Amino acid sequence: MEIGGGAYAHVVLPKWLKQPGLGESDRRFITELVNGVCRERGVLDPIIAAAAGRPLETLQPAVIVILRMLARQVLRMRVPHHSAVHTSVELAGQRVGERTRGLVNAVGHQIAARDFDQWAGELTAGMDDFGKLAFTTFHPRWIVAAYSKLLPAGELEAALAQNNVPARTTLVLRPGLSDFIESGLLAAGTGFEAARYSPYGGYYDGNPGRLAAVADGGIGVQDEGSQLVALALSRVDARQGWWLDLCAGPGGKAALLTGLALQDGSKLLASEIHPHRAELVKQNLRGYRGTCVVADGRHGAWNTGSFTRVLADVPCTGLGALRRRADARWRKSEADLETLVPLQRALLAAAVESAAPGGVVAYVTCSPLGRETAEIVAAAEDGSFELLQAGDYLPEVPDAATGPFVQLWPHRHGTDAMFLALLRKRGNPR
Ligand SMILES: C[S@@+](CC[C@H](N)C(=O)[O-])C[C@H]1O[C@@H](n2cnc3c(N)ncnc32)[C@H](O)[C@@H]1O
Repeated sequence: MEIGGGAYAHVVLPKWLKQPGLGESDRRFITELVNGVCRERGVLDPIIAAAAGRPLETLQPAVIVILRMLARQVLRMRVPHHSAVHTSVELAGQRVGERTRGLVNAVGHQIAARDFDQWAGELTAGMDDFGKLAFTTFHPRWIVAAYSKLLPAGELEAALAQNNVPARTTLVLRPGLSDFIESGLLAAGTGFEAARYSPYGGYYDGNPGRLAAVADGGIGVQDEGSQLVALALSRVDARQGWWLDLCAGPGGKAALLTGLALQDGSKLLASEIHPHRAELVKQNLRGYRGTCVVADGRHGAWNTGSFTRVLADVPCTGLGALRRRADARWRKSEADLETLVPLQRALLAAAVESAAPGGVVAYVTCSPLGRETAEIVAAAEDGSFELLQAGDYLPEVPDAATGPFVQLWPHRHGTDAMFLALLRKRGNPR
């Protein structure tokens, strides 16, 4: 497993941090180093190659890992150059082989001979503006180009930079199960702050795992944007009845919607294609004693036209949640859209079919890309539904409406970049 791969940040790092004898500052340093290398490797690698004067592929994988950590420390973490080179040389000697000491020492000094801005200036000299911005904000160029189509030019850099800032832990209060007063979270000094927009949300600086209300399912951890799109669906005028969550795993929205449905005198059916993710939904619904069926949302066993509200929170590139997974930006590519787009189209069509006449469908992604959002909705237009003005259902959130849709952004709203379209199925409610 290499540092720079996702498994390192999500599997190995938590184990490392449990090692006995580590102080808080060691933990912070290791976390910042591992996450930083994962997030920035696409920029650190060309620096290492230039410093080594040879293509990266000609270096041993383990040496590349050590040089990535060295470069991250020297160029981005203000670790004194001699100390970073010394520890890297020792690590190489002990873990890779005595013969590698000289190479790591020489390349390490070359890396440290310039600061990050100097490397950026040198390595982006022939590039266009997107290429330069991609380098200095640690993104692949295609993501910069995609974002540039979605945002005013003056916001582009801020939006990309926000993907490098880890998200604040956000809690959600599950309606009817708990409240923040009861949980004691509102008392001074708890590290809790009410969320900006979601009446069910709050930011929390502590470890949610230690809260009793989290353990029993009354409070969950959920991005505020996810809360808002679920809330918007619940606010549209529609009859009481059954609600459907078509792609429910792991179940954050299903839990909030279950609470909102119960308040409405309605009930929610959660459905998910992967059995292990359906288990996670059940876990999230435990406070409501809810369950989740395992089904391909394109061919659910329910009757068409059965549901008064349907959520289609479809699988997507996740480009709106890059701040959550350090390495994600380097693993995704435009080619992913070739399989995602047909699936998204089919799931939206199934969602519309499942809705009762007069019922509402929310089409949601945690990606802002046009091909996964507005274009999917446009392709579904067949006269069977009317597009609602989604912004009308979240009036407390400024700068969220984009035409008939809602598009949230980390740099504007502090949420993931969730997209929401609200559709009303034509026909008279039965
Ligand atoms: C974006 S996630 C949903 C997140 C969820 N709504 C939440 O808030 O926790 C998309 C989910 O769709 C599931 N999925 C993928 N293909 C599906 C299909 N054909 N039918 C139903 N679910 C599917 C994935 O396994 C994944 O759990």
